Amino acid sequence: MHVFLGVTGASGAPYAARLLEALGEAGCEVGLCASRAGIEVVATELYGDARLSADETLARLVEPMRDAVTLYDERDWHAPYASGSAKVDAYVICPCSMGTLGTIASGAMSNLIQRAASVALKEGRKLVLCPRETPLSLIHLENMLRVRQAGAVVLFLAPGFYAGAASVGDLVDFVVGRCLDQLGLEHELVRRWGQE
Ligand SMILES: Cc1cc2nc3c(=O)[nH]c(=O)nc-3n(C[C@H](O)[C@H](O)[C@H](O)COP(=O)(O)O)c2cc1C
Repeated sequence: MHVFLGVTGASGAPYAARLLEALGEAGCEVGLCASRAGIEVVATELYGDARLSADETLARLVEPMRDAVTLYDERDWHAPYASGSAKVDAYVICPCSMGTLGTIASGAMSNLIQRAASVALKEGRKLVLCPRETPLSLIHLENMLRVRQAGAVVLFLAPGFYAGAASVGDLVDFVVGRCLDQLGLEHELVRRWGQE
């Protein structure tokens, strides 16, 4: 499966790292593009250093799965994800900032991540957006309704506790598992409801 993964500047970098790992383990070919703010959040939340260079931050992020991942700059309009003619099975933006979600909802596309999302919608392909913000303004809520109506799945970064989470890692796995469910990928990241 060929998956585009956009990483933007919302809190939730551990979800992106775990998702990348899970996609690689599932044998997916992954094209990864992180926004400038996304890189800053990854540097802050995963490596404890907001000033870590973009190159070093991305190198550390993809290291565990580097054979499965190709990195793209957010201004790389020659990337396959900039066009619907490229064969891509699914697009995920995780985490998805409210800025990126609002831009997608507006139809504007000023970087590769927003363009890829727009391509997914116009081509009728799977698009999973994973926002995180709280509380939500009327504008956030309306934008989420708009992208849902346009065909995207809004998979809020809101882990459930009912599967018996014992660690932060379990909570991360819960959300990543639900994301893989959307892509139709098998996994055992979380105990399913009704399962012994
Ligand atoms: C450490 C950090 C955490 C942030 N957390 C969030 C968040 O949870 N949700 C959100 O919508 N924006 C958050 N922001 C703000 C976005 O990064 C900012 O709006 C940025 O312009 C988004 O750009 P992008 O969508 O191109 O990544 C955060 C910024 C930083 C530096």
